[in-house]
Order: sequence, then C-alpha cells, then structure tokens
Amino acid sequence: MHTSSTPLSPSVENLQARGKTALDTGIRALFAADPQRFEHLSFRHDDLLLDLSKCALSRDDLSALLALAHECGLEARRDAMFAGAPINATEGRAVLHVALRARPEDGFETAGHKIGGEIEAVLAAMARFAEGIRDGSIAGSTGRRITDIVNIGIGGSDLGPAMATIALSPYHDGPRAHFVSNIDGAHMADTLKALDLETTLFIVASKTFTTIETMTNAGTARRAVADKLGEAAVGAHFCAVSTALDKVAAFGIGEDRTFGFWDWVGGRYSIWSAIGLPLMIAIGETRFREFLAGARDMDRHFRDASLEQNLPVLLGLAGWWHRVAQDHPTRAVIPYDQRLARLPAYLQQLDMESNGKHVGLDGLPTPTVTGPVVWGEPGTNGQHAFFQLLHQGTDIVPVEFILGARAHEDGEAMRIHQDLLIANCLAQSEALMKGRTMEEAREQLLQAGRSAADAERIAPHREFSGDRPSITILHEILDPFRFGRLVALYEHRVFVEAQLFGINAYDQWGVELGKELATGLLPVVQGKSDASSRDSSTAGLVAAISALRN
Ligand code: F6P
Repeated sequence: MHTSSTPLSPSVENLQARGKTALDTGIRALFAADPQRFEHLSFRHDDLLLDLSKCALSRDDLSALLALAHECGLEARRDAMFAGAPINATEGRAVLHVALRARPEDGFETAGHKIGGEIEAVLAAMARFAEGIRDGSIAGSTGRRITDIVNIGIGGSDLGPAMATIALSPYHDGPRAHFVSNIDGAHMADTLKALDLETTLFIVASKTFTTIETMTNAGTARRAVADKLGEAAVGAHFCAVSTALDKVAAFGIGEDRTFGFWDWVGGRYSIWSAIGLPLMIAIGETRFREFLAGARDMDRHFRDASLEQNLPVLLGLAGWWHRVAQDHPTRAVIPYDQRLARLPAYLQQLDMESNGKHVGLDGLPTPTVTGPVVWGEPGTNGQHAFFQLLHQGTDIVPVEFILGARAHEDGEAMRIHQDLLIANCLAQSEALMKGRTMEEAREQLLQAGRSAADAERIAPHREFSGDRPSITILHEILDPFRFGRLVALYEHRVFVEAQLFGINAYDQWGVELGKELATGLLPVVQGKSDASSRDSSTAGLVAAISALRN
C-alpha cells in the first residue's frame, strides 16, 4: 500500500472527487445525457482515431484533466525533452529517442552538440550491412548466403525488434529472424536446433554489453560457431549493437560489424536505433525508414498540437484518470490484430519499467499511486480466456482496444475474417459499456422457455454490470508508417503520465537488486559457498534444488 506525507494538490483532490462522481454516474448515463458524446470525446490525427467516449469521463472532467496537465508544466517538460535537456535527472542524461527518427535538418542537439549527422551515419552503416545481408553480398564464412539471423538480447534489446518483426511480417522479405533472450539454455538450444550455422548471422544486442543473459547466450553461440566452422569463421557470423564499443571489441567483433548508439537512448526506447537492425534486415532500409517516419509524424503531432487535440496527451490523461482518479490498478491492452501479439509484452516494459516508481523527482514518496500493471493479449483470443473477468469480475479493468480498419489479407476469400474481427472488437467495447440488466437477463431466459423459478435463479449469473471503461485506438492498416506512429503514441503517453505522477520515467533502479542478489547466489547454487547466511526460505530452496540435482 503506497503512503506519502506529501499532500495532494487541490486539483488532484478535485479530480479524484470527479472520478468518483463519474463512476457513480456511469458511462451509459453519460451517453444518455449527451447524444453527441462520440463527437465530443473522440480525437483524430489523420486516420488515427482515439475514442475516449466509452470511459467514465465527462467533457468537464476532461477539461479539468487538461488544466492539470497545464498546471504540472507538461508543455515545458515536453519541450525540455525535445531540446535535449538532461531530464533523466538521476542519471544526468538527455532523453532523445525522438532524434533517432528525425531528419538531420530537424536540428536535434544535446549539450550544445548537433547529433543528426551521427545518427544518419549509423543508419547508413546499418543500411549498407542490412542490404548486404539481404542481397547476399555479405555472406557467411563459407560464402553461403545468410538465411537466418538470430538476435541475442533481452529487455529493450529484444522486445522492440521481436515485436516489430512480427508486426511488419507482410513486409518481411529478408532472412528469417529469430530472437533469443532468456538465460534458460532451452531458448538458445531450441533456436539452434532448427538452424544451419553456415548460413546464420548472430546479432549481439546490448546497450551495456554486460547483461548476463545476453553475454552468456552470446558466448554459447560463439562456441557453437567455433566448434562447427572453426575459430576463424566467428567474425563472419557475428555482429553487434551497443553503446559500449570497447566491450564489443573485447568480445572479438570487428568495428565494421559494430553499430553504436548513445546513452541518451533508453533501452526500452531503442527500437529506432541500431537495436532495430534485425528489423531492417528483415524488411529492408526503405520500409525501416517508413517506420521511423511514422514515429516522427507522431513526435511532431505531440510537440505541436494543442493539448486539447493532442493524442498522446489525451491518452495519458485518460490513463492517469483511470489509475489515480478512479483507482483502477491495471489496464489491459488488447490489439485486435494478430500481428500485434507481442505489443502488450513490449508495452509492459515500456510502461512498467518507466512508470513503476514510488518516489518523485524530489526523492519523496509520490503523493498519488503511479503506473498501473499493464497486460494483454490479442483479440479475439483473449475473449475466450480472460474476458470473463473483464465483464463480470469484481475489479474494473480499463481496456484499450487497438484496431486496424483494413487488413493485408483483403482478398474476397479473407474478407470475412476482418469483418468478424472488427465486429468482435466493437461488440466487446459495447458489451463492457452497456452490460445486461437483471430484467433483461430474466426476460431472455423466459423467452428461451425457462421456468420462472429457473429464470429467477439464473438471472444474477447472466447479469453484466456494464459501465466498464474502454478506449479504442483505430487506424487504417498496420503498415510500417502507421506502426511507427502507434509505438511513438504509446511512448509519449508514458511520458505524459510520468509528468502527472511527477516521476522520472527514464531510470530503472528497481531491476538492480535482483541482479545483485543473483550474482551473490550463483556460487551458492554452484555449491562453492554455503547458504547459511541466507534467509531460511532461500537456504531451504537451495538445499532442495541441490538434492534434486544430485
Ligand atoms: O535490466 C533491465 C535492463 O537494463 C533494461 O532496461 C534493458 O532494456 C535490458 O536490461 C537490457 O539491457 P542491455 O541492452 O544493456 O543488455
């Protein structure tokens, strides 16, 4: 339970009172009171539409939220990020992933140093390498064409390219792409099983080049290549992406196969950097640049549109409203798009590693709760798994539906799939909002021929409270440009919420303790030091594991 002695500001108190009132009023009543509610509470940027009308939120509530955004200096904070100020205060770093998708003439700089030229130079080097792999002019050690690439990375050095490669599979015309992240040897072993090392390229992706999972997996892959093809072959089967160029060189990967990025790119914001190399190899430079262009388009919208019409701002305000004003501890992201299957996992890192903080920029416990638990799965699969709880469970979970109007599979034979997908997505948000009253449930049962006694007994189980909030994000089709725009929308939404919480979204000290303890526990697990100084649970588990292993 989060406690803080910092008093709530009058605006936050007012918004919490409003949040409760809106919950009591209910979404159905809000629709009844305002027949034009969709027009008033849906917002557009080109074909991208954000519908907030199915949230328990009135137009006046939204105005109060916008006032809060102004009050917490959102615009100035946003401008500071775009200006390259060190807004990641605990690490003294700028936050400039926006520069990675800019054009050189956009003039991004940090610490008085223009960075567009360096960014373009890395992109050009990536493109030369990616196109060389794709056209076969850069081959494996025996001269055979590369058919498979294996990205070895974890967290931000894995989730972005893995998620994006699936998302853009209609454009995937390069080598097959595989992703190994887990320290569990099963991940590497199962991946290698299907591959011919002679035609495989490993990409070791790590911002720090120290992450134990990545370095262990890279070492295993290196040994496999050396054993099969000889030590001299290793260079032709590896390349690296990192900010730690000295460590890459020490690993033995050549400078011409090393693609750098910068400490002002957070791991979970790095898909736009050289970390995107597997994606570029998969879809080619042109499509990759379209992906960057989509993100740039969202950056410019975020920077230039008024707060009242600014999609990331509005999405962030709705998120804050659900979390702080209405006390919903989680939110579900449900893409009605199978190719966005890994988006929820990607957003878990983006959102929870950014906004899972308990102290503010001043080092004091935040006056309010902060980031929600983010989770999800694609629709329609989720409908047949956990939607029961969304409709009838005791917790309210705001749902974010993501939908493309058009599919790549648009031939006559496949049209029915997209029609059904859309119908299901709309039906779910409608059902969450409308629900079904006890009388309606009873009436349906009677109509179906059940006795009055049965109808009475069963109706409560078939009642849906309704008034459950959802947001719908609609765009035309999942192409590289729109996909880049969508990911950037979510990045900026996380930024907006962080400003409202008053936290630094760009450090992640919370992952350190587990790493330190794992380092200390390794010799214990290996039997090289004893577990007696550990708590009794850890010591007991070590003993039980060792009994099972011997
Ligand atoms: O442990 C968390 C983390 O630092 C993430 O923030 C990061 O994306 C991931 O590990 C991988 O880090 P690296 O790219 O340095 O290997």
